[in-house]
Amino acid sequence: MSEFFSLKVSQIEQLTDQSVHVSFEIPESLKAAFAYKAGQYITLKQNIRQQEVRRAYSIATAPSEPLLGVGIKQVQGGLFSTYANEALRPGDVLEVMPPQGRFVFEPNGSAQHIAGIAAGSGITPVLSIAKTVLESHPESFFMLIYGNKTKDDQMYTKAIDALKDTYGERLKIEYVYSRASIPRAHFGRIDRSIINFAFKNKFADRAFDAFYLCGPEEMIQESSEALQVLGVHQDLIHYELFTSSKKEEAPNSLPNGMTKVQVLLDEVETSLEMKQTERLLDALLKNKIDAPYSCQGGVCSSCIARVTKGNAVMIKNEILTNNEIAEGLILTCQAHPTTSEITIDFDDV
Ligand code: FES
Repeated sequence: MSEFFSLKVSQIEQLTDQSVHVSFEIPESLKAAFAYKAGQYITLKQNIRQQEVRRAYSIATAPSEPLLGVGIKQVQGGLFSTYANEALRPGDVLEVMPPQGRFVFEPNGSAQHIAGIAAGSGITPVLSIAKTVLESHPESFFMLIYGNKTKDDQMYTKAIDALKDTYGERLKIEYVYSRASIPRAHFGRIDRSIINFAFKNKFADRAFDAFYLCGPEEMIQESSEALQVLGVHQDLIHYELFTSSKKEEAPNSLPNGMTKVQVLLDEVETSLEMKQTERLLDALLKNKIDAPYSCQGGVCSSCIARVTKGNAVMIKNEILTNNEIAEGLILTCQAHPTTSEITIDFDDV
C-alpha cells in the first residue's frame, strides 16, 4: 500500500522564481499503477541531508496528458521544496507513491459547469480539474478565481493562458492580487466580497454543478461559508487544504495507558504495543511497519486506516466526514488509541 516506484524526472520547467513544474514519464509497466483522476496528488520520497523526506504534491497535468507533472513551490525552510527547486535535474530518479486523494473531478459524459477557487500553489489540482472539465465535453464551462500576492508569484500563467486560447469563452478567470494593483484584476485576497462578486453578480445566471477550493484554510473556510450563504449546498463544495492553521489539542487530555495494536497492511498482520499518548502512525513507523503517510499533519489523507476493533481519538481531522468516522476511518497520523486493544486495517479503506 505504501509502495514507492522509481520514476525518472523527464522535464523541469521554471514556473516562477520560486516554483517548478516537475514532469515524470511513466513507463508502460507502471501506467496502470499511476492512472489518476484530476485533482489527485502523488507522494515523493528522497533522502535529503541524511534523512528520508516525504512530501505530497498535487498533480497539475490532466489524466489525458502524456506526462504526469506536479507543481512544487519553494517554501522557506522546506527541505523537499528547496531540493526540488535548486538541486533536482532532468534524468534524476525519485521514489514516487502512486496517485491518491479524494479531491477529484470525474467527467460524467455531460456538459458540466464547474468553479475553481485557488490561492497560491493551490492552483495545481485546480488546473488539472480545469483542463479535464474543458476537454471532457464541448459545452462544459469552467470559472476560475485565482489569488496570488503578485503576478510574479503566480504559478502556471502560461498554461492558463494556453487554456484560455484553446477554450475562449468556456473559461472565465478572475485574478486576485494582494500586493499588486493590476488593471482588470481584483486587489486584495480571496474573501467573501470576491465570492459575492463572482457568483452573486457576474455569474449569477449560471448554475454551477460543483466548486473546487484549494489553498490555505482561512481562504477555504471563508469562501465555503460565503458560497453557502449564497445558497450553494455544502455537498457541492469540495476542498483540499494546503496549509492548516488549526491548533492541535493538548495531548494531556488523552488517556495514558498502553494499547496492544493489531495492524493489517498489504495483507500482512503485525502486532505491537504502544503508549496511548503516542500517535498510531508514529508507533507503527517506530516498529518498522511501512505504513503509508506523507504530510503527518492531518492534511493529505495518505495515512487513512479503518479501526475494526477498539477505539481511537483524532486530535485533528479536516478530511474525514462524520459518516466516515462513524464507519471507523481514522487518520493514523492524528490518532491515539483509547482502548487497551485496537485493530486497524489499511487494506480496507
Ligand atoms: S499523513 Fe497526511 S493526513 Fe496523515
